[in-house]
Amino acid sequence: MTNNNIYFVANWKMFGLKSSINKIDKVINLTKKNTFKKINIIYCPPTTILSIFANKLRNSKIKIGAQNIFYTENFGPHTGSVNAKMIKDSGASYVILGHSENRNEGETDLVINKKIKVALKEKIKVIFCFGETLRDRNNKKTSNVLKKQILNALKGINDIKNIIFAYEPVWSIGTGKVLKSENLFKDIEKIKGIIRTNFNIKEINILYGGSVNTKNIMDLKKVDNLSGFLIGGASQNQNKFIDIIKKTFY
Ligand code: PGA
Repeated sequence: MTNNNIYFVANWKMFGLKSSINKIDKVINLTKKNTFKKINIIYCPPTTILSIFANKLRNSKIKIGAQNIFYTENFGPHTGSVNAKMIKDSGASYVILGHSENRNEGETDLVINKKIKVALKEKIKVIFCFGETLRDRNNKKTSNVLKKQILNALKGINDIKNIIFAYEPVWSIGTGKVLKSENLFKDIEKIKGIIRTNFNIKEINILYGGSVNTKNIMDLKKVDNLSGFLIGGASQNQNKFIDIIKKTFY
């Protein structure tokens, strides 16, 4: 990958307890080495342990992200929800939004649009996820679906530079199935085309997510137009996570 900044986003999903904080020590040590100057690691643990991660990572280069927020900015009677101010208060400077697991639970493009707006207003950077289902792909609807997801979610938003795009084909998440690098390259070019045509942005950062592991990273890292990876399962094991990082650079 030729990009200046390479992101490795660890999406822990609904895994992790207070004691899990010990599982990132080796990653912290890795970031202290000068060899990894271009690296941007963002840990996205569950909300319950965000502040524990924030304390632990206070003096490190590793950033923290939340996995979701509520779609309005104010405090209010929304049982079980947290807003952008709360995750910021807990130490997060990023948030994952639009993840297919939340879309599956009924999150619409309109709700994602509102969430992105409140996050950016609170100066929280957004890791915006989008991706087609297997059915979309088989029906040759991938481009249309991605375009619709991107345009709907970013409607009325000017602050595009604070958004990191994360292309996550739904059929690839947690399944072990990934595109071959040459096909992924073409898809990323198309996505960049959609973004460039519709928004005024010079540098577009797009990550790939979906079953990234210590083996397929050797092919995925050939995709020159990517700025990094959003990693679920493999990010919970620091040895695997570090292996992915090292293989990306060497
Ligand atoms: P996975 O998850 O790496 O376990 O496929 C990626 C994601 O859902 O962000």
